[in-house]
Amino acid sequence: MAPIRLEPLCEAHLPGLEEMLTDDGVLRFTRVPEPVPPGFAKTWLGSYEAARREGTREAFAIVDADEATFLGIALAVQIKREEQSVELGYVVAPPARGRGVATEGLRLLTEWAFAELDALRIELWIDVVNEPSKRVAEHCGYVREGVLRSVYFKQGRRHDFEIWSRLPTD
Ligand SMILES: CC(C)(COP(=O)(O)OP(=O)(O)OC[C@H]1O[C@@H](n2cnc3c(N)ncnc32)[C@H](O)[C@@H]1OP(=O)(O)O)[C@@H](O)C(=O)NCCC(=O)NCCS
Repeated sequence: MAPIRLEPLCEAHLPGLEEMLTDDGVLRFTRVPEPVPPGFAKTWLGSYEAARREGTREAFAIVDADEATFLGIALAVQIKREEQSVELGYVVAPPARGRGVATEGLRLLTEWAFAELDALRIELWIDVVNEPSKRVAEHCGYVREGVLRSVYFKQGRRHDFEIWSRLPTD
């Protein structure tokens, strides 16, 4: 796989982000509202930029290290500084899937969370049927802890979620 890097998500990534929101897998496995409201990508970016200033969330674009092509996003969905814990998430654009981008993206994001947030616990919430995402978690050294049943997800939908975690000692 060509090398990738993470860079803070910004307006320049909006076209890639908007394109990604048309994918069924993204709608199925993320909290993006359905149907996607007009201008959602920009509003969503704005909310992450505000949260970045507050230190409660962070969003990165995953880009090709040579050409800076947009490949997906890597997120700190919820940063709990006092608890030194964080929930991470990731989405890869359909044309970039199946060649290790999410695995390398999560590896870099995990390193960032340990180094920059001093995280003592990192969590991933993965729908029980999302096999590719579970593979990504496993490849990055996360441990499956169990299943939360019938969690409110969005718009009246409830799903079963596997909780995966990584500690600095893993
Ligand atoms: C999940 C997602 C991020 C994976 O991205 P990706 O770049 O294709 O992931 P990788 O290539 O690093 O790894 C995918 C792994 O899943 C495996 N895989 C793919 N489809 C699979 C399936 N149906 N069943 C089991 N494993 C599968 C691949 O073989 C690969 O494992 P391997 O490296 O052992 O061969 C991407 O599919 C996506 O964005 N989905 C929609 C959003 C989403 O689900 N985000 C995660 C929310 S928790």
